[in-house]
Amino acid sequence: MTELAQPVTMDKIVSLCRRRGFVFPSSEIYGGLGSTYDYGHYGVLMKNNIRSLWFQAMVQERDDIVALDSAVILNPRVWEASGHVAEFTDPLVDCRTCKLRFRADKLEDAQCGRKPSKHPGEFKECDLTEARQFNLMFETHVGALKDESSLAYLRPETAQGIFINFKNVLQIARRKPPFGIAQVGKSFRNEITPGNFLFRVREFELMEMEFFVPPGEAEQWYGYWIDQRFGWYLKYGVREGNLRKREHTAEERSHYSSGTTDIEFLYPIGWSELEGVANRGDYDLTQHTRHSGTKLEYVGEGGERYTPYVIEPAVSIERIFVALLVDAYHEEVVAERERTVLRLHPAVAPVKAAILPLISKNDEMVNRARALHEDLRQGQIVEYDDGGAIGRRYRRQDEIGTPFAFTVDEQTLEDDTVTVRDRDSLAQERLPIGGVRAWLDDALERPWQAPKI
Ligand code: GAP
Repeated sequence: MTELAQPVTMDKIVSLCRRRGFVFPSSEIYGGLGSTYDYGHYGVLMKNNIRSLWFQAMVQERDDIVALDSAVILNPRVWEASGHVAEFTDPLVDCRTCKLRFRADKLEDAQCGRKPSKHPGEFKECDLTEARQFNLMFETHVGALKDESSLAYLRPETAQGIFINFKNVLQIARRKPPFGIAQVGKSFRNEITPGNFLFRVREFELMEMEFFVPPGEAEQWYGYWIDQRFGWYLKYGVREGNLRKREHTAEERSHYSSGTTDIEFLYPIGWSELEGVANRGDYDLTQHTRHSGTKLEYVGEGGERYTPYVIEPAVSIERIFVALLVDAYHEEVVAERERTVLRLHPAVAPVKAAILPLISKNDEMVNRARALHEDLRQGQIVEYDDGGAIGRRYRRQDEIGTPFAFTVDEQTLEDDTVTVRDRDSLAQERLPIGGVRAWLDDALERPWQAPKI
């Protein structure tokens, strides 16, 4: 097996996602809606896996974090208190010549509409306006009246839904710091320059956890969560060389942050933010206490009281989705034929195993394979495939990252064994058909590492 030394480009990832039905451009039959995407079958399965692995690490395996699912549309005063109405803005410039809009602070990343080899402002015909602040929150109206009094926002982050429920969780779930509240949900930002496939979109699924701690312990928990989250990516096979930590400078930090570290991934567009871990201090609880009049503080049994500090790891499923695909994507030559393979961690792979009759016109093989499929699907997401030559079916499964393929062949009809093919090593071995389910469960539990090629 020889790896083709070609760089993984975003175009290759987009093309594979489309070809294999992971992701489609949204509203395509109406000409699309810039940078909006719909997920197909394998995309949904992979997103479900990412979400549940995050939930497993953040809630299921811990005693100190509980779950929450708050509303998308909150009382608009929430966003005044949080600072989003005043501060959640990007500086924007318009070009009067090409009519395009750019982020004033990212002109060096943008291309001039008339002369794409130049940045906006560099071509003689460019005519840029002064920069003005543009709020990224999508506005909507609640109820029958459409005026100032009914104005509301689609949430740009899930975190505020957590802060406004702090008292409920403290009292009803009987928690005391350090403890966390985790939430996954759609978030919306009217990004001025979305792009790079799913990397920057206007609608994405955020996974956030707000960890409330005594102020004196904030630094220690900040370091702890950076390490925990970094380790999570390694656990799911992301190559260490593609990951790094980067601390924000004071100028870069968001209005609420007293310290932020990005976990960055080497995307095809260069090192970029995958996940952010922020020390939000007591900013949010203090703001909501001030604006709502409800005291959001911890009062201990001995009467001690304080406003907890908050450490927040936040990441979108979309950024993880792209990072995992980029990390897993390989083009190689096997027996003089090229194959594209997604070496996804088995826990992330959309389909865990394929069941293939070697000859699709052989009724006995088809029946045995179908029976095996029925058995395996009770426990795992598996796929039966009898369409086309066996080589083509293997290639298809390689491209969607299926770690194992069980093939029913002539020998199966004689001795009740099947072949199992390993996606990464291409090794094949024979197993008794009756033991396949236990073998698969076992194989999916085994530690996995991206093979070094
Ligand atoms: N509550 C903190 C917060 O929202 P953020 O850095 O603005 O912080 C958190 O966003 C994470 O959400 C980022 O690290 C990134 O993973 C993801 N993210 C942000 N904007 C995104 C977008 N337009 N498209 C996809 N993911 C995005």
